[in-house]
Amino acid sequence: MSGVLRLGVNIDHVATIRNARGSSYPEPLRAADLALAAGADGVTAHLREDRRHISDADIEQLSALCLKRGKPLNFEMAVTDEMVAIALRHAPHAACLVPERREEVTTEGGLDVVRGQNAVASATRALSAAGSRVSLFIEADPAQIAAAHAVGAQVVELHTGAYCDAARAGEVARAEAILARLKRGAAQAVDLGLEVHAGHGIDYATVKAVAAIPQIAELNIGHFLIGEAIFVGLAPAIQRMRALMDAARAELAA
Ligand code: PXP
Repeated sequence: MSGVLRLGVNIDHVATIRNARGSSYPEPLRAADLALAAGADGVTAHLREDRRHISDADIEQLSALCLKRGKPLNFEMAVTDEMVAIALRHAPHAACLVPERREEVTTEGGLDVVRGQNAVASATRALSAAGSRVSLFIEADPAQIAAAHAVGAQVVELHTGAYCDAARAGEVARAEAILARLKRGAAQAVDLGLEVHAGHGIDYATVKAVAAIPQIAELNIGHFLIGEAIFVGLAPAIQRMRALMDAARAELAA
């Protein structure tokens, strides 16, 4: 079941650079527009509770852009009343529920759907009723995947951070073990009728193995692409990532 693999480009860190100076540039909106023109299938943005990168105004603008371009906006959000209310106002194509702690540098670990079942189920119901496709960002853990299905999510996004960290550190055995877990998780999720996405920490070196997991329908990639854009430009960085994803899929089909 290895169909086309979509690429969602996360533009949060364009806002991080803008906010470092408290200036009006670089604009996440411009990056999103460029990303779509360069072949991204959608735009991903995380409105954090502390607004450290993406702002409420960015979400307004990104929603309007995606609507105009007919492309999906994937709104990453914590499971809080405030974020649910904002998401309900915009009714983005997709809402990805993520864990959030103020002190973390980035989203560390997946959402604990098992422990937070009631809150996640209630947010999932409200967002689904508003027409958003709800995705839960979780570790490839059998209990978390089963719980994601039980709360009525349509999608799970499997956290690839630990795999990417291990692969980059040259910890081959550890990386292989985590990759095997991601593969089992993707198969379990599809068996339950869930769509499977993956993301976090992916770069040119790690994308191939993740893209080669046939059940995965979408990758969400941000930090590496925005960093690479400094050296080669955003469009070429996205195009190279896209080419690596396509090559991994072509090898599967061969
Ligand atoms: N998917 C989710 C749910 C995330 O929280 C993030 C980070 O914001 C990403 C994908 C992208 O991760 P990265 O920026 O490391 O590519």
